[in-house]
Amino acid sequence: MTDARERPERPGGRGETPRRRRAHTTSRDLERYADLFARRTQVMRSSAMRDLMAITARPEVISLAGGLPDTSTFPSDSFAAQMTRIAHESSAEALQYGPTEGFDETKACILEVMGAEGMSPDPDDLIVTTGGQQAIDLIAKTLVDPGDVVICEAPTYPGAVPTFCSYEADVRQVSTDDDGMRIDELEAVIDELAREGRRPKFIYSVPSFQNPAGVTMSEERRRRLVEIARENEILVCEDNPYGLLRYDGDPQPTLYSLDGGDYVLYLGTFSKILSPGIRIGWVVAPPPVLEKIGLGKQAADLCTSTLTQYFVREYFAEGRWREYISDLIEIYRRRRDAMLDALERHFPSQAEWTRPEGGLFVWATLPDYIDTTDLLAKALRENVAFVPGRAAYVDGRGASSMRLNFSAFPEDELREGIRRIGGVISEQVALYETITGEHKAAPDEPEEPDQGGEVVPIRRR
Ligand SMILES: Cc1ncc(COP(=O)(O)O)c(C=O)c1O
Repeated sequence: MTDARERPERPGGRGETPRRRRAHTTSRDLERYADLFARRTQVMRSSAMRDLMAITARPEVISLAGGLPDTSTFPSDSFAAQMTRIAHESSAEALQYGPTEGFDETKACILEVMGAEGMSPDPDDLIVTTGGQQAIDLIAKTLVDPGDVVICEAPTYPGAVPTFCSYEADVRQVSTDDDGMRIDELEAVIDELAREGRRPKFIYSVPSFQNPAGVTMSEERRRRLVEIARENEILVCEDNPYGLLRYDGDPQPTLYSLDGGDYVLYLGTFSKILSPGIRIGWVVAPPPVLEKIGLGKQAADLCTSTLTQYFVREYFAEGRWREYISDLIEIYRRRRDAMLDALERHFPSQAEWTRPEGGLFVWATLPDYIDTTDLLAKALRENVAFVPGRAAYVDGRGASSMRLNFSAFPEDELREGIRRIGGVISEQVALYETITGEHKAAPDEPEEPDQGGEVVPIRRR
């Protein structure tokens, strides 16, 4: 018989360690741990989208802040059938650890997806990762020592900013316009670094339907970027979650296909074309680089979820993945159009915004006297949210811009969200004009933005 002293106590029983309620962190708490933190924690930054997620989860908030695909469009009976099949036919394997680099079957699905954009890498040059986010982290972990230069677009993917910061990279941002990253500026930055005797570790780019700006790099610039990488022996990290979500226009060649994989590392993900909840992405890199990335992944999480890799395998076996993407394209095209239309109606004439041919985001820029971080507080009072532009910069720029997502809500809610944001912007514009006596509208533009349109009652989620 077990001695009573050896028996584990039930929760709440005698001997249980009392659970302390955590109040807000006090200065005493900070002192207690401060000496323990690694130096790099001082430069770690929080992701604006992650912070906002907590606030915007309230059902009454129309959050245009996320980058969420609409997973309610995925047929639940198909999900149920696939998971049931896994449970019946492969439960032991699906519940087991898997290889660090991912299953061959998952890689075969990834090759189908990459094939749809004209790429055919060797499966041995590919590692399955826990989302594209882990691939960014592993690349930075592999290549960046504190102070090393990473070049990226301005604005850049807000989720990459905390990663580059936590590896203490010296991030240089190169402006973008409607044709993507400005290659003339990129060359100037590389030349300036060369004069200092420095070479960037890599150039990070989201060339198609960029997050956050929605712009797409022209073919001419893509070709030139690849040439520059070759001439200067600099790696390029092409992050392409949105390439297959094109609503208009012609596909552009990927940087990876232009380069052939010598200098371009390629990052992909199932998050936007299937599900972000399964956390499956991938990275393709030249073998010596991939080997180090694999070591980094072993240390980080041993392997990507076996269960969700089995789900991907079942899903692709059904053979309907292209059809689902076509469905998403139809849905998101309508939502993009609704957002662009609402912006015309409800944003003041002083605002500008991008008109993306695909992806999930519009980037709007307001007059420079409006700070979108302050504006967000006002917008939240109206139960609407966006990502303030500063989140997409490392240096405090972007203060009067905002990222707006159009994939997560149906058209009526998008219109209502934009109407509410337009309302708070117009208040700021009116206030500024009253205080300064300025009136910025061009003579042939309407005196006031059209605040008309029905107020749409939003159903509770
Ligand atoms: C450009 C870009 N890269 C990477 C990610 C991360 O995606 P995930 O980790 O879900 O694959 C995102 C997500 O929004 C993104 O927009």
